[in-house]
This record gives sequence, C-alpha cells and structure tokens, in this order.
Amino acid sequence: MPDQYAVIGNPVAHSRSPLIHAEFARQTGQNIVYGQLLAPKDAFAATANEFRAGGGRGLNVTLPFKGEAFRFAAFLSERASAAQAVNTLKFEGGVIFGDNTDGVGLVNDLVRNQSCDIAGRRILLLGAGGAARGVIEPLLQQQPAELVLANRTLDKAQRLAQSFRGTFEAGTYAMLAGRQFDLVVNATSASLTGELPPLPPGVFARGALAYDMMYGKGETPFLALARAEGAAMLADGLGMLVEQAAESFFIWRGLRPDSAPVLKLLRQTQDA
Ligand code: ATR
Repeated sequence: MPDQYAVIGNPVAHSRSPLIHAEFARQTGQNIVYGQLLAPKDAFAATANEFRAGGGRGLNVTLPFKGEAFRFAAFLSERASAAQAVNTLKFEGGVIFGDNTDGVGLVNDLVRNQSCDIAGRRILLLGAGGAARGVIEPLLQQQPAELVLANRTLDKAQRLAQSFRGTFEAGTYAMLAGRQFDLVVNATSASLTGELPPLPPGVFARGALAYDMMYGKGETPFLALARAEGAAMLADGLGMLVEQAAESFFIWRGLRPDSAPVLKLLRQTQDA
C-alpha cells in the first residue's frame, strides 16, 4: 500500500499540488499517492481527522484553512508559530505535527531560481494578511538591509509589526513616497480582483526584482505595473508554490526533490 497524502482546501480542484508531488515521488522513487480533499467550510477538522483515521500520513493545507490547521496541530514548528498558520500537517505515531513551508518556499525561490541575494537588500512587503505574515520571519532571517511592510489599513500593519516585536517598519502606502527598494513582494490579495496595491511611483530601485505571490496565465496586474515602473526582473508565485511543496515533501519523506524540472513542467502547462 502506498502512503497517502493530499491537499485539503475549499475550493481545491484547481490545486497544482497533486501534479507537483506526483512528479517529486516519481523522481525520488517514493511509493506515495497524493490526492485532493475538498472539506466543507465548517468541517476542516472532521475531514482531516477522517483522512488521518483512514491511514493518511500528511496533508498540505490551502485556503481557507491555514489558520484552522494551526489550531488543529498538537505540535508546531517555530516557523508555523511565527506565521500563526500551517500549510503542512504530518501524522506520525498518533501525533499531529504542523509546519509552514510558505516562507522558506519564497526564500528558496528567490535565492535558487531568481538568483536574488536577500542579505543587505532593501525589501518592501505589500499586505498584512496571512500571506504576508507567513514570509516575514524567513525573510528577516536572510538579514536584509531593511524590511518595510506597507498595507492599505494602517491598524492591521501596526498590529502585525507589534506581534513581531517591531523588528520591521510598517505603515501605509503613503510612507513609501520617495523611497526605493531592491525587492518588492506583493503579498496582497489585490490581484484576485484585478486590483492594484496603491504604490507611489518610483519605488523600484535600479535592478529591482518585483515578486508577485500570485500566479496564473499571463502577467498579473502587479507585475504589469512593476514592468511599467521599470523593475528589472519580474517573478510570479509559481516558483514559491513548487519550493514550498519541495519542503513539505522533505518533511514527510526525508528527501529533497529537484524542483527545477517540476517548475519547468508547470510553466509549460500554464502557458499552453
Ligand atoms: P491573505 O491571507 O491572502 O493574506 P487576507 O488576510 O484577507 O488574505 O489579507 C489580504 C491582504 O491584501 C490585506 O493586507 C489587504 O489589505 P487591507 O488589510 O487593507 O484589507 C490586502 N488587499 C486586498 N485588496 C487590496 C487592494 N485592492 N489594494 C491594496 N491591498 C489590498
């Protein structure tokens, strides 16, 4: 019997995780199956428990359940505690472990796939929701020259900064006027509705990388704006998706898959 894994979410049918993990398993010769688990919005724990009771070994957790998965796990990694969200559950010996690989997924995509040094660079992070929270600690660990967080709602930005003991500057978009950054990461959900974060002109430094955690067919609205504003490099969130999956695979199986060919495969099917 192969070991069972799945991605749990609502909706979940669009998820690329089954394809990614099937490729990782093929590459490393691991005997696993990886499916999709649609949980009713009010029944995350019941659905996850049923999967576990049936012998399931682990789950990836996607929207809208990352907060619930955080409360569901009996043991948390440090990065899951900092993120207050769990995207990876491991079931072992009757114990539920929770981890969060989103932040390390972003950092690994930046460093490995985009050849972007984070140390000593000026980083601007847009948004103050769960997506932003999850990447703060891993970005700070890379020792940037500064990390500045901008959000539409000031109060939310300030509360987030306080929960990280003020280790970075936070405010609204207005405070960005006249400032420049080497890396600008869009962690808002604005692209979902075709909207744009209200960036003042001129925030992209010479040679800057614009990174959108979103991905999809064609350029996201944020990347289109960044291009028009003169950003030197553009990246969407597909690499982060593959890298967070590689880290989850490592947590479950103890092996590091090669993410590059899988990213290439996804890119081909996305553009097709
Ligand atoms: P997630 O878990 O994906 O981060 P979230 O917690 O709902 O989702 O947070 C969404 C983030 O996107 C918030 O920072 C939100 O800004 P506000 O806190 O001001 O609401 C941001 N966001 C959404 N639409 C936006 C837009 N059109 N312009 C700027 N920021 C936007």
